[in-house]
Amino acid sequence: MKGREHVRDEPLNFTIVLFGANGDLAARKLYPSLYQLVLWGHLPGAYRILGVGRRDLTHEEFRRQVRDKIIMFSSGTIDDMEHLEYFCSRFFHVRLDIERIEDYYSLQKEIMHVSGEPGLCSHLLFYLSTPPSLASVIVRNLREAGLGGKHMECGGWRRIVVEKPYGTDLRSAKELNAEIGSVFGEEQIFRIDHYLGKETVQNILVFRFSNGIFEPLWNRHHIARVEITIAENFGIRDRGAFYDQTGLLRDIIQNHGLQLLASIAMEPPVDLAADSVRDEKAKVLRSIRRVSPQSVERAVVLGQYEGYRAERQVAQDSMTETFAAVDFFVDNWRWKGVPFFIRAGKNLAETLTEIVITFACPPQNFFGPPESCSYTANQVILRIQPEETIAIRFGAKRPGESVITDPVYMRFNYRDSFADPGMTPYHRLLLDALEGNQMNFIRQDSVEYSWAVIDAIREAVGGKMPEIYPVGSWGPSRTVG
Ligand code: BG6
Repeated sequence: MKGREHVRDEPLNFTIVLFGANGDLAARKLYPSLYQLVLWGHLPGAYRILGVGRRDLTHEEFRRQVRDKIIMFSSGTIDDMEHLEYFCSRFFHVRLDIERIEDYYSLQKEIMHVSGEPGLCSHLLFYLSTPPSLASVIVRNLREAGLGGKHMECGGWRRIVVEKPYGTDLRSAKELNAEIGSVFGEEQIFRIDHYLGKETVQNILVFRFSNGIFEPLWNRHHIARVEITIAENFGIRDRGAFYDQTGLLRDIIQNHGLQLLASIAMEPPVDLAADSVRDEKAKVLRSIRRVSPQSVERAVVLGQYEGYRAERQVAQDSMTETFAAVDFFVDNWRWKGVPFFIRAGKNLAETLTEIVITFACPPQNFFGPPESCSYTANQVILRIQPEETIAIRFGAKRPGESVITDPVYMRFNYRDSFADPGMTPYHRLLLDALEGNQMNFIRQDSVEYSWAVIDAIREAVGGKMPEIYPVGSWGPSRTVG
């Protein structure tokens, strides 16, 4: 078994009802991850997956499709085709028009049929792998068809997983929260941000709170700035329709960017219960200073890569940003005055996700002019991807007669220190959702605080055209601060 220890006493019997079963996410991530979890032995109970989609597929056609996607998108080769065939035989297709309530009654019958096999009480996980605009109508219809509530008739739990982006602004997120909240309790709702399933993101908590030497320095007295980069060296690929409606602030900063910031800035939690950790993150998000029309020019740079408007399904006069750099401030006792700079973009020079924490200079610099301190200033560099490393930078004497300091690095590399952990974010998060662990899912209050931050930026920017930047660069020439 890979990735984590098993603590469950009894095998979990479950049914997943997957909306968006013919979509890209299901094909690339969900089917291969589920299969792998079964192979690793994490899901030893009885399971079924009801794939819900608009297309009129027979169960057999759907199973073939699932099998082909697993073969196409699994990271390794599939050794045991017989086992894969068995896995796929647990898939059933349900044709459903998302707007049609009658179809939900048929879905309800199907669920009762497959989860009510003699002697079996199946838990039920709804998974919405659908565009955000459809989430409301789906949950409303689930409620109408009697599929809401906490438990199945036989006592099994019900849960719902919702993919990001969760809403498109604060208003729609609140509406969605109210809508879903009228059908499911918060403890049943799992809002995914796949960044929280990444090994190195989960390690931020461990790095900060399992070591004694960093925490005393982790505050405004010793840290000069924090820089978070989420850069990709490719464009929007074939997601023009989605992306042009969304833009980078909503696609990346609202969720991945602010969650990284919250992990760096949060207070130690009371314990490791999901809500203890989420309480602390929510407090950080709530403390982020809102960008205003007065501060926007200094605090925000938006960009659009050259040629974006010629991408498929993008408006020819699109004003959507594909790059954003924002100087955030967390107005609390620990962080007052420390800039948290987040920069993210498409079609940049490199694919890289990294957090750089730069410490204050020593009070006196004996080894050069005052400004030379930034050359060797201490840094902790948490690289999330592509190579997962943690580095500490400090100044060292360059060998030779004169005293010249150079920056040098102590580096920890995951690959060198641990065997391949194997688990990807979707393995981990799917398992967490099935096991009921909400620590790495976003709670309602955090979603809303994050949207308030993003709405303020968008409002302050107004309808201003983002600056054009060359493909393969580091974004617009103008910088924040
Ligand atoms: C998704 C965004 O949430 O994250 C994509 O919608 C982005 O635009 C992707 O490319 C990045 O994820 P990762 O795990 O490849 O860094």
